[in-house]
Amino acid sequence: MINDTIINLLYILAAILFIFGLKLLGNAQKARKGNFISAMGMLVAIVAALVSHDVLQWQWIAIGMIAGAIVGALAARLVAMTAMPEMVALFNGFGGAASLLVGWSEYHRYVTVGDFMAVSVPSLLIIIVTIFIGGATFTGSIIAWGKLSEKLPSKAIQYRGQQLVNVLLLTFLLGTTVLFGPLREFVSIDSYWLVIITIVLSCFLGISFVIPIGGGDMPVVISLLNSFSGMAACAAGFVITNNVLIVAGALVGSSGIILTNIMCKSMNRKLTNVLFSGFGSGKGKGSGGFQGEANPVSVEDAYIMLEAASSVLIVPGYGMAVAQAQHAIQELATQLEENGSEVNFAIHPVAGRMPGHMNVLLAEANVPYEQLKEMDDVNPTIESVDVVIVIGANDVVNPAARTDEESPIYGMPVIDVDKANTVIVMKRSLNPGFAGIDNPLFFNDNTRMLFGDAKQTTQGLVAEFKG
Ligand code: TAP
Repeated sequence: MINDTIINLLYILAAILFIFGLKLLGNAQKARKGNFISAMGMLVAIVAALVSHDVLQWQWIAIGMIAGAIVGALAARLVAMTAMPEMVALFNGFGGAASLLVGWSEYHRYVTVGDFMAVSVPSLLIIIVTIFIGGATFTGSIIAWGKLSEKLPSKAIQYRGQQLVNVLLLTFLLGTTVLFGPLREFVSIDSYWLVIITIVLSCFLGISFVIPIGGGDMPVVISLLNSFSGMAACAAGFVITNNVLIVAGALVGSSGIILTNIMCKSMNRKLTNVLFSGFGSGKGKGSGGFQGEANPVSVEDAYIMLEAASSVLIVPGYGMAVAQAQHAIQELATQLEENGSEVNFAIHPVAGRMPGHMNVLLAEANVPYEQLKEMDDVNPTIESVDVVIVIGANDVVNPAARTDEESPIYGMPVIDVDKANTVIVMKRSLNPGFAGIDNPLFFNDNTRMLFGDAKQTTQGLVAEFKG
């Protein structure tokens, strides 16, 4: 066995690599490097953990590593970009399940091979906290995965007394924590049953916590569950006294909370409102019933508008990802620039289905990083833009968020494309987006609807430019 000091130094090295990697992930150009550095940190952590303990059965570790590596490599290769959020939800869930199993097995070890009553109260408390957060994260993430992949209804499912059930569950779980820890000498019930009940109830709490959330609030929940999976891992680190797991869990937990906060701000919502308001339950669809008709436009006429534009702003959304139109739109941007237009892309923080979704796709298509502008940078000058191309975006350009107090997304910051001179919206129909609400933008006088699959219509425009 290697000296503890060396192991701890390796753990510190791993933690430094994690933090450095995370820092680089904040910059689109350096994100790939950041990912690699963090992965190296994880390798150092795994090797240090394995050599620091008397590993009894290497074959189980080898089987686990091979199985994990195969699943990870296949997922990275096969999962489509559009399905990434679901995959993140699943990974969060497995993180929670792993922590739950660590807590449970440690408890099992105490009662079967150790002296249970000799175990300290803090150790027992941390075990029950690990089980509690891990179980709720596991089932909550599975429900989130089901909603995002549309295997379950994505809208908020609410029933009478839902909050009360959640409060009762939470109270019960906190109660078992106290019974199990500080009061264990005074209770006569078999505490193993208490642990089983805690596992079942925390799994139920995860389900009951996530089903009333739906619509555009799902990304916030995924981010929050990501944070919970980090906290569960951090608690598991205390359970098995592994310093690097504590640090890694704390990093995931805190970065998840920071991202949750950023997303809430982008939607102008409070976290409590996201968690308890039942957005997308169908209770509010805005005032609806928009007057007027949408103005369709042909590829040829859209080309004439773009050909004459001296400034063009492209606003991508989820539909661009579905159509895989990122390369075509990059080509169109190049054509527009060659034609003398100034071209920029405006990225809404929650466009698509995961944080940074649009940035990743556009980076893949080699759109220069300098052309990617944030919502807050484009909105103040959007009146001076000649033509805005909205490609597969809907909720993030919905002016009802600004104007319709009855709209469920009222108050959410959006890209104010309706204020530009002309807006060309590329989508297949007038159907709503993720939040399931109508969009008055489609009926504005300065909006032209270019119906069709975003990739095909963009390629049509490119062909027009090429003559
Ligand atoms: P959405 O509001 O979901 O609208 C996407 C639009 O793309 C749809 O209205 C659809 O209209 C169109 N579309 C789909 N396939 C297309 C294709 N092949 N070609 C052309 N258009 C196509 O997207 P958004 O504006 O990006 O807003 C994102 C929404 O997702 C927000 O509500 C956000 O809160 C939520 N959300 C975000 C995230 C993150 S973190 N980004 C995660 C989960 C959920 P047609 O069917 O008429 O074509």
